[in-house]
This record gives sequence, structure tokens and C-alpha cells, in this order.
Amino acid sequence: MENKAAITGWGWHSPEHTLSNRDLEKLVDTTDSWIRSRTGIRERRVVGPGESTSTMCLAAAKKALDSAEVKAQDLDLVLCATTTPDFLLPATACLVQQHLGAVHAGAFDLNAACSGFVYGITVASQFIQAGTYRRVLVAAGECLTRFTNWQDRNTCILFGDGAAAVVLEATKQNAGVLSAVLGSHGDTEGLLSIQGGGSAHPASVETVAAGMHHIRMRGNEVFKKAVRMMVQSAQEALRIAKLSTRDLNLVVPHQANSRILSATQESLGIDADKMFINLDRLGNTGAASVPLALAELASGNRLKVGDNLLLVAFGGGLTWAAAVVRWADIAAIKRERARRLTA
Ligand SMILES: CC(C)(COP(=O)(O)OP(=O)(O)OC[C@H]1O[C@@H](n2cnc3c(N)ncnc32)[C@H](O)[C@@H]1OP(=O)(O)O)[C@@H](O)C(=O)NCCC(=O)NCCS
Repeated sequence: MENKAAITGWGWHSPEHTLSNRDLEKLVDTTDSWIRSRTGIRERRVVGPGESTSTMCLAAAKKALDSAEVKAQDLDLVLCATTTPDFLLPATACLVQQHLGAVHAGAFDLNAACSGFVYGITVASQFIQAGTYRRVLVAAGECLTRFTNWQDRNTCILFGDGAAAVVLEATKQNAGVLSAVLGSHGDTEGLLSIQGGGSAHPASVETVAAGMHHIRMRGNEVFKKAVRMMVQSAQEALRIAKLSTRDLNLVVPHQANSRILSATQESLGIDADKMFINLDRLGNTGAASVPLALAELASGNRLKVGDNLLLVAFGGGLTWAAAVVRWADIAAIKRERARRLTA
């Protein structure tokens, strides 16, 4: 039987500082009730001095390794999904790999914006299914508030910071990543972008004066595409996994906006109580949003062996991604690992 990639450990990190809608009322012309009714967000976490994407990913990664009972030196690959890396060079994944002491692991970043984690576990799953690697750490983290224009009420109300990580391991169980669908439609219209600081517009006094280092978004247009592509990719991922929406125990969606989530849930014909939502507390945390939700569910013992989960996301790029993940018998994978070590 072929290898599948099962999640065996998880961890997350949310910065301590909370920014509420009331706090935002003091910064821009907005209200708590407007933000809650249009987005579902009440508050979000914001990084403090000394924190960055790599420090949050590192904290989440250490917890994921602890929960999987895997040593850093036993990792084959460290992958980091982020749109807000510490630096253009080196990759954030390399910083995490070094600080973890994952001395036998390759490391690279993956930028698929808010779909990044689902892209990441898809890549990890390919390496594991091919037999190239046994254990891959996929971290996803964002410091979106460092790229936020605090005078733009269209965007500054949406985003928050955080990170989460999972360990994926080879298993012969019929569990783990069962299917994945990735999609993209290159955003040449500036629907959602950060245009300054790259090779097209290297950082300069002019790019900073023009605010090109900030997130820019045409929210309404992003909204419509998000619903359409999340629904289509979710249906395709279910079809490949030979499952229907009735077989799903939970949907773990990208936490962008509660209205996007309701529209997606209704179009898919899924019960509202199967959609996991934590955006009221965390806002839109980009690539970190799906694994933050997943790690919260797993830590709360909400996931049982054999549960079918639908992970679905949409983001800048534009990108979208959906994956069906069956929750594995993690205790059995740990026993098998211990048996191999003593054999
Ligand atoms: C951004 C978003 C919340 C805006 O909600 P919306 O219902 O589409 O609102 P609109 O953009 O049509 O704006 C409606 C009005 O509210 C105003 N408005 C925008 N932001 C506001 C705010 N924070 N507070 C108060 N009013 C606001 C607009 O200026 C506009 O006023 P006008 O009618 O006088 O021009 C919504 O479009 C959205 O969530 N889009 C998806 C964004 C997203 O998820 N991006 C990340 C993808 S991963």
C-alpha cells in the first residue's frame, strides 16, 4: 500500500497583544458594529517588538514537534508558507530550520498567500507519497500588521498576526492527505497586492512615500472570487477523495470574512455547525489561518480518528486550494515509530 502523509503533531503561536474593533475606532473612521456585521471580526492579535514571522513559526514548530514526539534532527524538510517573510533573503524556513536544530532537513518558503498552508501540506504530501521523505514540518506564519496601512479602513480592520505548524509523517493507514486541488489566476489587476520592495519596484524613498509597501485590496471583487473558487475547489477535492459533503465531519476554512464563509457553506450545502470559525478572535491571519484553526481543533480534542476534514482557502495571487484530510490514528503511528527505532 502506498504511503500517505498524516498529521501527527500541531502547535500554534498567537502574539499577546490584542487589537479590538474599539481600538480601531480610534485609528480610522469605522465602528465596532460595522466591522462585526461586515466581517465577523471582533479582535485580532498583533506582533510586538522582537517578534516576526520566523519567531512565531519557530514557537509553533517547537510545539508541533513536542506534540508529535518527533526530534528536530529527524525532520527531512522544513517548509514555511508566508507572504510576510522576515527577509527577502534568507528564507524564513531556513531561519526556523536553524533555530530548531533540524540539521538533516532542507528548507524553503512557499508564497501562495492565504492558501499557503494548503499548498504546503500538498507539497509535503507529494514528497512523502513518493517515498523521498518520511517527516516534514509545515509551518505557516504571517505578520500582516507590519504591512498594513493604518489609515486605510478598507484593509486595516481585516488582518491579524500568528503562526501554526504541523508535522506530517508517512503512514500506511488510509488517512492523512487524501486529495488536494490547487489553483491560481494571476492578479494583474491589483486586486490584492503589496507592490513595493520587490524587483519590479525596489524599496526607495519614492516607493515608501507612495505607500507601496502596504497591502492594497479591492475587497468587493476579492469577495466574489473567493466564494466561487473555494466552492469549486472544495467540490473537486471531495470528488477526487471519492467523498461527498455528507462524509465531512468538519470544514476548516481560511478565516477571511464570516460572510464569505456563510456563502461558501450554503453553496456547498454543508451544515453551519460543521464550519469551524475563529476569525472573530484572530481576524484574517493569511497563510496561518487554516493551521491556526486546525491546531485549535486538534488541541481541543475535537478531532477523532477517521474524521474527514475539508481544508479550503483563497488568497492573494490569486490562489485557491482545497484538501481532504482524514484524521489518522496518531497513537498507532507513534507506536510504529517506536517499534522501528528498537528493531
Ligand atoms: C473588505 C470588506 C469587508 C468590505 O465590505 P463590503 O461590504 O464589500 O463593503 P464595500 O467595500 O462595498 O464598502 C461599503 C461602504 O463601506 C465603507 N467602508 C469600508 N470599510 C469600512 C470600515 N472599516 N468602516 C466603515 N465603513 C467602511 C466603504 O467606504 C463604502 O462606503 P460608500 O458606500 O460610502 O462608498 C469585504 O469586501 C471583504 O471582506 N472582502 C474580502 C476581503 C478579503 O477577505 N481579503 C483577503 C482575501 S484572503
